Amino acid sequence: MKKIALFLIPIAIFATDGKKVFETYCWGCHHQTAVAFGPPFSQIASKRSANEIRAMISDPKSVSKVFGYKRNAMPSFKLKEDELQAITQYILSYKPKDTNATDSNTTGAK
Ligand code: HEC
Repeated sequence: MKKIALFLIPIAIFATDGKKVFETYCWGCHHQTAVAFGPPFSQIASKRSANEIRAMISDPKSVSKVFGYKRNAMPSFKLKEDELQAITQYILSYKPKDTNATDSNTTGAK
């Protein structure tokens, strides 16, 4: 019995690991907190809902227009439902806890 339990636990944890999805598909263009080719996850999380994030990943061509981007440089991804769910939660986990954080972004450098 003990052996079976030890074998099952890692699968349950790693099956939908958002960090892994990030490292596989998004890492080249996005960073968690720093601006890369695309915006950082902390910034995305502070202004988008889970549904908006999911929509952007599945259909960046149309959704980037809705978001106000003049160009669309992000490719679309055919992620499985569990991967989509995991990466969405992973992005939202970078939502700044301090509500003043978004203010300091809009007011610019001090
Ligand atoms: C080839 C580079 C590239 C890759 C790979 C990429 N992105 Fe992007 N992403 C961008 C760029 C550039 C933008 C800005 C909008 C645009 O140009 O389409 C963006 C925008 C976004 C946005 C919306 C930003 C906003 O304003 O809210 C989300 C959400 C997002 N990316 C998530 C992801 C996720 C999740 C992955 C991995 C599955 C990923 N991206 C992979 C380049 C990329």
